[in-house]
Amino acid sequence: FTYLSLCLLTLVSLFIGEYLHLSCEEDSAGWTVKRNTTTKTLTECGDTWGKLRASSCRISYTHPSDSGVYWCESREGATSNTVNITVTAVILQSPVLPVMEGAAVTLNCTTRTPSSLPADFYKDGSLIRTESTGQMTIHHVSKSDEGLYHCTISGYGQSPPSWLAVAASLTLRPSTAQLFVHESLHLSCEEDSAGWTVKRNTTTETMTECGDTWGKLTASSCVISYTYPSDTGVYWCESREGATSNTVNITVTVVILQSPVLPVMEGAAVTLNCATRTASNLPADFYKDGSFIRTESTGQMTIHHVSKSDEGLYHCTISGYGQSPPSWLAVAGELLCHLVVFCPYFISTLLLVSLWRQRSAGKRLTD
Ligand SMILES: *[C@@H]1O[C@H](CO)[C@@H](O)[C@H](O)[C@H]1NC(C)=O
Ligand SMILES: *[C@@H]1O[C@H](CO)[C@@H](O)[C@H](O)[C@H]1NC(C)=O
Ligand SMILES: *[C@@H]1O[C@H](CO)[C@@H](O)[C@H](O)[C@H]1NC(C)=O
Ligand SMILES: *[C@@H]1O[C@H](CO)[C@@H](O)[C@H](O)[C@H]1NC(C)=O
Ligand SMILES: *[C@@H]1O[C@H](CO)[C@@H](O)[C@H](O)[C@H]1NC(C)=O
Repeated sequence: FTYLSLCLLTLVSLFIGEYLHLSCEEDSAGWTVKRNTTTKTLTECGDTWGKLRASSCRISYTHPSDSGVYWCESREGATSNTVNITVTAVILQSPVLPVMEGAAVTLNCTTRTPSSLPADFYKDGSLIRTESTGQMTIHHVSKSDEGLYHCTISGYGQSPPSWLAVAASLTLRPSTAQLFVHESLHLSCEEDSAGWTVKRNTTTETMTECGDTWGKLTASSCVISYTYPSDTGVYWCESREGATSNTVNITVTVVILQSPVLPVMEGAAVTLNCATRTASNLPADFYKDGSFIRTESTGQMTIHHVSKSDEGLYHCTISGYGQSPPSWLAVAGELLCHLVVFCPYFISTLLLVSLWRQRSAGKRLTD
């Protein structure tokens, strides 16, 4: 399943012959899906295209003529975000989120039935490479790789363009965003990090730089050798020119709750682990959205068959040690394509996205 919130996406590529499901916000009485294509503008779902069913709009077999701009509109004329949808025989799969500098990225040029056909890859309109299997890997992404890519497969045609964004990254060792007190923490900016410094905001001070009142600058990184709860805050890299990297929220506590960073599939099992730095099998109390759920004698709580209702903000406490910071547990169901008007998924998606970026950014150093 692909979890897409179109609050974050403005451009979607689909293959010919796919099933497309568009819906407005949940309570969507009075809202309709509209579109502009090259041949007709301001047409409504159910008119000359699409089928209205239970307040959503379905196109059962997409065609290139379905390419266009889509949005939701209320009877009063209020409009949602717009989404550009392109329907083609060839698609270039590229990451939706910015790729961290130094990471590897693979762009896949494919037809609907995965075929590994040879493909030509273009960047900003110029041919860069031909790949015999239709996959192009950039092993060490740098800022100069940022641009508009497309590809062609002989006999099938050309893909719509995809923007590859490259972001500077702050990496952590250890790679977790929740840390125990009295540990050491290494923070570093890009490899070619000349001119980049690590900065932070905490509850007591803002925009301070490593080496100032906290941390120690070494050749390639900033080291906090002994963490305190007062090191809790937002950290990022900043260049002399003021460009900033991803930000990472770091929490330093005595008790932490370990939970999955990525959404858990409905029906799967998940284990939440409540621990202190020195002991991991102490009895712990678990809370969801602020309400007590249960006590587990070993500090581990397993949910055997996760459902959407398990989604929420969890925390735990261990008697004599204290309370953990909250962790968001996300549950993914089947959600194909969503035109969300009031963006109910926006906040949690953003949260997940940034958490995922923190983890993946941090991992590379320790791997
Ligand atoms: C759709 O087309 C109409 C008529 O050309 C235009 O006024 C409107 O701005 C278009 N809407 C979008 C979202 O492109
Ligand atoms: C979406 O399509 C419209 C009209 O074709 C175009 O003006 C706009 O730039 C497109 N937006 C994106 C994000 O590609
Ligand atoms: C391209 O395909 C490879 C292997 O099939 C996969 O690991 C990678 O995530 C794909 N890339 C994108 C951008 O989807
Ligand atoms: C840090 O604090 C400053 C001053 O309050 C604020 O302008 C800035 O947006 C904060 N940065 C982050 C990443 O939170
Ligand atoms: C990070 O912390 C800031 C300020 O405390 C908060 O507004 C933001 O939602 C946090 N982000 C994440 C991903 O937890």
